[in-house]
Amino acid sequence: MITEAWTFLLHVVGLLLHSLTPCTPPEILSMGNIDTKQYLGSWYFIAVAGERDSDVNKFRAVDSTIIVLQEAANANTLLFNGSIRVGNRCIKEVWPYHIRPGRDDLERDGIPERLSPLWSGRLLNCSECIFLQESEQQPPLNRVLFYARSASVSTEMIKEFQMKVSCLGMRNVFVLPQEKEYCQLDEMA
Ligand SMILES: *[C@@H]1O[C@H](CO)[C@@H](O)[C@H](O)[C@H]1NC(C)=O
Ligand SMILES: *[C@@H]1O[C@H](CO)[C@@H](O)[C@H](O)[C@H]1NC(C)=O
Repeated sequence: MITEAWTFLLHVVGLLLHSLTPCTPPEILSMGNIDTKQYLGSWYFIAVAGERDSDVNKFRAVDSTIIVLQEAANANTLLFNGSIRVGNRCIKEVWPYHIRPGRDDLERDGIPERLSPLWSGRLLNCSECIFLQESEQQPPLNRVLFYARSASVSTEMIKEFQMKVSCLGMRNVFVLPQEKEYCQLDEMA
């Protein structure tokens, strides 16, 4: 009887501690104050996490994506050149983002109301990782894209990612299968 009460008490204390444990806040890279050159070059798209299913759904058909990050002729614009593998097809897309004075995040070209902060790899203690959050009020959007310098990361790291982002309210996670051949950009930087 005493043991049961004790077990129950420990259980309650455990729940309480768990609910008090704060989420690890991401370290947001202040675009005006960092040297973006260190982030240029190739990145593999590892996973995406979203608050709603609709935030991640469009990625579910994607097998793999390589992003080459480069500066546009205008250095205040970063180009995310993506080579996307969907089934047997390779799709190329370019997403330009602008660095604006007075804004810490990146401004997605043509969607100034969307917030697109870059999070440092510190979230997973991974210097070769970076995260791009995309959030908007209307239509509602909140997701984070996980990129790494190497094509594969450990399963522990994926689990850690799921834990950290679900604590931040993004519980729908899609990990890219990366089963087929990668699509390459014609002129890799
Ligand atoms: C973070 O990574 C570094 C180098 O990989 C390691 O030495 C350190 O112990 C790690 N820190 C934590 C908190 O995991
Ligand atoms: C990225 O896209 C831009 C704009 O289309 C293009 O000029 C550039 O060559 C591309 N870079 C790579 C590495 O494919």
